[in-house]
Amino acid sequence: MGLTVGIVGATGAVGRKMLQILEERKVQIENLRAFASARSAGEKITFNGKEITVELLTEEVMKDSFDYLLFSAGGSVSEKYAPIAAEAGNTVIDNSSQWRMTEGIPLVVPEVNPDVLKGYKGIIANPNCSTIQMIVALAPIHKEYGIERVVVSTYQAVSGSGHKAIVELEGQNSDINYPNEVYPKRIAANCLPHIDVFNDNGFTKEELKMVYETQKIFNDDKIQVNATTVRIPVVYSHSESIYVELSKEPNIDDARRILEEAPGVVVVDNPSNNEYPTPLEVANSDETYVGRLRKDLFNTKALSLWVVADNLRKGAATNAVQILETLESLK
Ligand code: A2P
Repeated sequence: MGLTVGIVGATGAVGRKMLQILEERKVQIENLRAFASARSAGEKITFNGKEITVELLTEEVMKDSFDYLLFSAGGSVSEKYAPIAAEAGNTVIDNSSQWRMTEGIPLVVPEVNPDVLKGYKGIIANPNCSTIQMIVALAPIHKEYGIERVVVSTYQAVSGSGHKAIVELEGQNSDINYPNEVYPKRIAANCLPHIDVFNDNGFTKEELKMVYETQKIFNDDKIQVNATTVRIPVVYSHSESIYVELSKEPNIDDARRILEEAPGVVVVDNPSNNEYPTPLEVANSDETYVGRLRKDLFNTKALSLWVVADNLRKGAATNAVQILETLESLK
């Protein structure tokens, strides 16, 4: 007997990727249902060679019985419909930011904190894309040396803003007069130090997600994170320049070996041969790539590294499907 799985937001950039990854990873699904708004209800999508009609998302359908519901239709949809689905006994894996910081709701990167899923049923939160790849790379370093402070700058792909942002970048790449609707300024040939809304303290909501989600996943609110998140004109994969201050002085060869052995991490680090991860090369992969590993010149207990992952895959859909797989393995 296979699973009954529903995708909420199945026509979006992440929803489509979820369908693709469920197929690729051969998750045993007997009944796949796809949900979206009235804009695309009735459209046909293909899953495992079968045509599926996109259904309108309603309160009633969320009360049907599902083994898993994967949500990626934005925070307000998750706020309204995830509790209805969970109340009906369904397990929800939510890709929005709506429930991530709610106490009692697990925030999970399966390579790092799968244990919080043991015996749990209800809504589970998938972390922010920028947080996921940073956590995958930093978890082995944290375990060995203890992270005290992180300073991170991101270089984020437009696909993180949904399908319409990809269309906007492609339009602007070929037409100087193409309007900006998704972003406040032109994104083609530009970069915007502005992702999500600004908070009163000067940080954006995206930057604060990286702070508080990191503390929650590592279960350590003493870790200090300072983030600057930047949108760049790249379609797929986020890159991050990360500086970490540690409790213990690392040996650089040991740190490299620890990263090479870490689950979900691939080290590509031979700069003299131009070998370092780039978004174009990392796109379409499920791993988190690390390069440019080096010790700080002044602080002996600090490291710098460059981290790249496909934001729609490991940063969203793959991580959500891995949560599903982890729950299945715990049954
Ligand atoms: P729709 O195709 O009907 O607009 P993206 O992040 O790429 O913009 O995709 C967002 C996804 O969330 C789409 O599948 C979109 O469906 C879906 N969505 C957005 N708002 C709603 C809503 N109110 N109810 C159901 N699905 C929604």
